[in-house]
Amino acid sequence: MDTTTSMTDAGRVAGQYATTDNLSTRRSVWGPGPEWVSPVDVLRTLVVSSQPSHVVEIGCGTGQFARSVLDEVPGLHYVATDLSPAMVAATRALGVTATVAPADRLPFADGSFDGAVAAWMLYHVPDLDTALGEVRRVLRDGGTLHVATNGREHLADLLRDAGGSPLVTQFTSEDAAEVLGRHFGRVVQRDVETRATFPHHAAACAYLATFAPALARALPPFEGPRTYAGHTAVLSAR
Ligand SMILES: C[S@@+](CC[C@H](N)C(=O)[O-])C[C@H]1O[C@@H](n2cnc3c(N)ncnc32)[C@H](O)[C@@H]1O
Repeated sequence: MDTTTSMTDAGRVAGQYATTDNLSTRRSVWGPGPEWVSPVDVLRTLVVSSQPSHVVEIGCGTGQFARSVLDEVPGLHYVATDLSPAMVAATRALGVTATVAPADRLPFADGSFDGAVAAWMLYHVPDLDTALGEVRRVLRDGGTLHVATNGREHLADLLRDAGGSPLVTQFTSEDAAEVLGRHFGRVVQRDVETRATFPHHAAACAYLATFAPALARALPPFEGPRTYAGHTAVLSAR
């Protein structure tokens, strides 16, 4: 399977996120790694400590990240966007301003924001440089883009156990700094290890089924809980 293409194919991406189910199934298994640090907490701390006044989030998913930032900074002007109407509806249900928009055509004037967030979504955009140029356009000079993504070995042992191979996307921990450096002058990266815990075989199959049904069917049975390593990175670019 050409994973880069399948991760960015517009029809597949739209189908993958037509409802919130796949994302919710995947989110539910993740916990901190050996250092007891959560990449979402690292991302939130970076966003909040940069003290923005106007933030746009791209690919907001179900809106929990936006909600958690607003809970810390209640007066912040925060607009969440996503390609999926179902994700936007879920985000609005949390009381967050949200609008349907593709990352490469943001419905905002130049320089509207001093902060931007793109968490675990830049591996989906059809043209990475167009999307990053668009983020750059809606940011003021000196504004910061905060991103999170996964490394090439992210959950790779589960994929191998199912007979697959690591999921290498167009935007991994290993190349994210170089990609962001094409649009921003200064990029800082922190790598964060995480852990996915599956209480039983069926839970691991359900996870795989959200993006690779053939691997879900191929995963050999196992007894009891099983834990796999995740490899993520959080970056800030300005
Ligand atoms: C893996 S989910 C991450 C969601 C959320 N940021 C999080 O961390 O939970 C990817 C999200 O990006 C959205 N997405 C995918 N392609 C997009 C695009 N081209 N423009 C805007 N959003 C997109 C999907 O609808 C989905 O909600």
